[in-house]
Amino acid sequence: MFAARILIAGGLLATAFAVSAKPAAAPAGPAPKDLVQARQAGMVMAASTLNLLKGASANGTPLKNLAFPAGGLAKWAASSPALFAESTRQVPSRALPAIWTNKADFAAKAKAFADAARALADAARAEDKAAFDAALASTAASCKGCHDSYQAPPPKAG
Ligand code: HEC
Repeated sequence: MFAARILIAGGLLATAFAVSAKPAAAPAGPAPKDLVQARQAGMVMAASTLNLLKGASANGTPLKNLAFPAGGLAKWAASSPALFAESTRQVPSRALPAIWTNKADFAAKAKAFADAARALADAARAEDKAAFDAALASTAASCKGCHDSYQAPPPKAG
């Protein structure tokens, strides 16, 4: 009985030791290819959202009804630079290597987008048509401003 208890206690100790001796697993982050897929999907949705906002505004939709998609675009603008992690450089994509050699300029282009999209969401909430139209133009310009330097042209259809 006593011997059995010692055995059990020893077994528990050994287990506890095995558990604590295991090196702490590194926190699993997303794989680089998943970051690339996420940013490409987000970009497509950003384009869809921008088109929706342009069309709805031209059709006279109350701007307050556009605050939700405009706010989503602003959230995307603020968070998307993180998806251009250095680890994604080796994954085939249309992201140009200059992103990681001109980091400050890429960040400035991303900030221009974030500022424009934030102004768009603010204007929608305020039902301010002039500010909304101006922010639509500056948001579209910020997309092009970044793509001109940092996005490779689409592969030619063969
Ligand atoms: C700070 C830079 C930057 C800004 C701002 C930016 N983009 Fe992009 N975008 C990129 C880069 C770089 C790629 C290529 C990414 C890749 O292939 O992984 C891209 C890719 C895309 C794609 C192609 C996605 C696919 O199918 O692979 C679309 C569409 C797109 N962007 C739309 C937009 C729109 C619309 C805006 C503005 C509302 C915008 N982008 C703002 C840098 C930017």
